[in-house]
Amino acid sequence: MTALKYAGMDDTDSEDELPPGWEERSTKDGWVYYANHEEMKTQWEHPKTGKKKRCAGALPYGWEQETDDKGQIFYSDHINKRTTYFDPRQAFTIEDMQVKPKRYDGNTTALEVLHDCDLSDKVVVITGANSGIGFETARSFALHGAHVIIACRNQSRAMKAVSLITEEWRKARVEAMTLDLASLRSVREFAEIFKARKLPLHILVCNAAVCTQPWNLTEDGLETTFQICHLGHFYLVELLQDVLRHSAPARVVVVSSESHRFTDLVDSCGKVELKLLSPPQKEYWSMLAYNRAKLCNILFSNELHRRMSPHGVTCNALHPGNMMYTSIHRSWWLMTLLFTFARPFTKSMVRRVFVVVFGFSNLSAIHLTNHLQITF
Ligand SMILES: NC(=O)c1ccc[n+]([C@@H]2O[C@H](COP(=O)([O-])OP(=O)(O)OC[C@H]3O[C@@H](n4cnc5c(N)ncnc54)[C@H](OP(=O)(O)O)[C@@H]3O)[C@@H](O)[C@H]2O)c1
Repeated sequence: MTALKYAGMDDTDSEDELPPGWEERSTKDGWVYYANHEEMKTQWEHPKTGKKKRCAGALPYGWEQETDDKGQIFYSDHINKRTTYFDPRQAFTIEDMQVKPKRYDGNTTALEVLHDCDLSDKVVVITGANSGIGFETARSFALHGAHVIIACRNQSRAMKAVSLITEEWRKARVEAMTLDLASLRSVREFAEIFKARKLPLHILVCNAAVCTQPWNLTEDGLETTFQICHLGHFYLVELLQDVLRHSAPARVVVVSSESHRFTDLVDSCGKVELKLLSPPQKEYWSMLAYNRAKLCNILFSNELHRRMSPHGVTCNALHPGNMMYTSIHRSWWLMTLLFTFARPFTKSMVRRVFVVVFGFSNLSAIHLTNHLQITF
């Protein structure tokens, strides 16, 4: 009974007994209606309570719905070899309440977005989850029961994040694994270790980023912002795509930014200019590099969605909000100043009030439309 109560299925008919002359019936697709034999009428509402109800689940094992010669539905219990006109599903009916779609705004927390979600059968990997948006995402998933792997370049910062979450909930299944997106070797090692563990992967959040970094080349000879924000994630998804497919339904979420709108990847003739992605030092402007990487995030997400969604793996990009006070500004004093001034007016990590749009807005870089699809 407790289990039924938990499932909202303990609403038996004992409390709202029917007045004499009434009979409870159900339609083929499980809607309950009421027939009055004296007045020869039917109605959807319960004659006493006025509530509408529907059957809570499928027919019990071994039962089948059939139609007799007069077109009336009856039910066969193949195990006990008996038939009845009473729908056995009526033993468990639930009130038909209009479920209002959830509304989110800038004050909604990630925990509120996930309210009612049991993620205990999900495995989640989040890159750069030791701070800011990634941390809040990891925390929210873990507090909803998911097995969360925070993939970070710095193990001591990662372990601190793990202990903050487990301090909040002792049973949280959260752990850290090393991943440095600035090194393709590290990405490969991460994927190999992850695969060796034979875990499924239901949600991969590509969140890690750097912004306004001075020009620097990675060990792979590529510009750092581009490699961390985009290429490292691209390679990670590439290496884990078979795991994602086997774990379907699964999803990849790419944390992009509205700032992708302030750049382009094409030359004056409209042709894609690949050398803009990893420019030499003299052509480098850090903010532009970030914007381009964020544009790559969206183009990648859209294309990945096109290729993987037929296999049950969806991919979406999102913009988390403007100028949220995280560590993202730390590389440039001017950014820190801007973020500090904006801080009272923007979403905050400290108050943990921000929406991580896990319904995920699919930002189309080509059409620059912003269309939100809530799918949880
Ligand atoms: N904050 C905003 O207003 C804002 C606005 C639009 C979009 N975003 C996006 O939101 C996402 C999260 O940013 P945030 O604001 O939460 O910033 P954040 O606090 O600085 O978080 C960025 C994370 O990325 C990690 N990271 C950096 N380089 C890495 C590497 N080579 N390998 C692995 N991890 C690395 C950082 O780890 P370390 O601590 O080790 O450096 C950190 O955990 C980013 O994709 C950002 O572009 C943020």
